[in-house]
Amino acid sequence: MILLLNYIDLKYKPSKKDLICEFYLEPNKISIEKAASNVALESSIGTWTDIATMNKRVARTLKPNVFYINKRKKIIKIAYNENLFEKGNMPEILSSIAGNIFGMSAIKNLRLMDISFPESIVKSFKGPKFGIEGIRKITKIKKRPLIGTIVKPKLGLNEKEHAKVAYDAWVGGLDIVKDDENLTSMSFNNFNKRVIETIKLRKKAEKETGKIKIYMPNVTAETNEMIKRAKFVKKHGGRYVMIDILTAGWSALQTLRNANLNLVIHAHRAGHAAFTRNEKHGISMLAIAKIARLIGADQLHIGAIVGKMTGTKHEVKDIGENIENSIIHEKGTHMLEQKWYNIKPTMAVCSGGLHPGGIPPLVKIMGNNIIMQFGGGCHGHPNGTKEGAIAIKQALEAVMSKKSLKNYSKTHKELKIALDKFGIIQ
Ligand code: 3PG
Ligand code: 3PG
Ligand code: MG
Repeated sequence: MILLLNYIDLKYKPSKKDLICEFYLEPNKISIEKAASNVALESSIGTWTDIATMNKRVARTLKPNVFYINKRKKIIKIAYNENLFEKGNMPEILSSIAGNIFGMSAIKNLRLMDISFPESIVKSFKGPKFGIEGIRKITKIKKRPLIGTIVKPKLGLNEKEHAKVAYDAWVGGLDIVKDDENLTSMSFNNFNKRVIETIKLRKKAEKETGKIKIYMPNVTAETNEMIKRAKFVKKHGGRYVMIDILTAGWSALQTLRNANLNLVIHAHRAGHAAFTRNEKHGISMLAIAKIARLIGADQLHIGAIVGKMTGTKHEVKDIGENIENSIIHEKGTHMLEQKWYNIKPTMAVCSGGLHPGGIPPLVKIMGNNIIMQFGGGCHGHPNGTKEGAIAIKQALEAVMSKKSLKNYSKTHKELKIALDKFGIIQ
């Protein structure tokens, strides 16, 4: 006798022990109920047909429930028993709730919009080691947003040239310098040599300015090599490392976090748009951000709103607020900063096409707990990196003292020159 299971139960009340997913779902020539059942079973215990090996015990203890269907908005929610997942194993969790289901012919489009993790899963991950508070402590910057640059050209400079660009940015007034996402250990720029040269000039800049300066070398590589590089950074006086979380993978981020090297982890999201850009399919940035925070990113790129990349105000700022009928979020708090058991808040990084003229609207939307990174918006200053950094610092000073950029630039020539080139975003 084959046991027939019903995966739809609109009366089901999710328990605190359930993992809940919200999906946008367009069925492929079948009813939304049928498609939703297919998503529920393929992401948990079932397969494409009823099977003789299914038994009552499995069904009773592990069957997920589709407990919400909004046909007009094409939104469904599924509650999964926590025992369907291995604690502390993000690849396993995602192979279930973000795995085969995206390729099923029962669906035309499917997007994982949001995930609510039960306490047992949250507590099986470490989360950020430092978080926002830790970062503010290290940098001794109490209230204002942090500002930084990315050494440009992305690729091509040698170790000494790289370090010199970083130095100019620091003495100009920036807090942070980071490698670009595709700079690792190159034939023309060796990782170890770059770290030594750049940290040497970081110390010089700190001495000259009396301020803490941050360098974030990109350790992205095969995991053993990555840990070796992170240890090298530590040994040479570094405080931060950067990793490309989507190309390196979730396990790589976890390996870096679990290595517990006492280094702040900066997470770049290069490649995220393959998952996030199509609004009807894939995985939302909100879901990606939650996973990154859970595993342990202290700082995470979430989009720049006023920059060169896609990422609307709604998508970036409301990360976590606007989910329909949410049982998941505190209203009005950015997801990266919401209370989440033992997991510290992650600092949001806005980067990609930013320039001084974009600082006022960005800070207005995002508040002070952000890091703003300027590549072209720093080195593209007509007078070079140092003046570019000074202009960024001046623009932030103007915002923090509630003055308009236009007025402030009348007495701050570096800013004036930058605004003449890049303009002011209203
Ligand atoms: C870049 O490398 O240009 C940016 O980091 C892109 O920024 P985003 O991933 O935060 O949009
Ligand atoms: C980043 O990796 O964050 C960037 O390279 C941003 O560069 P941009 O400001 O020149 O777009
Ligand atoms: Mg970049």
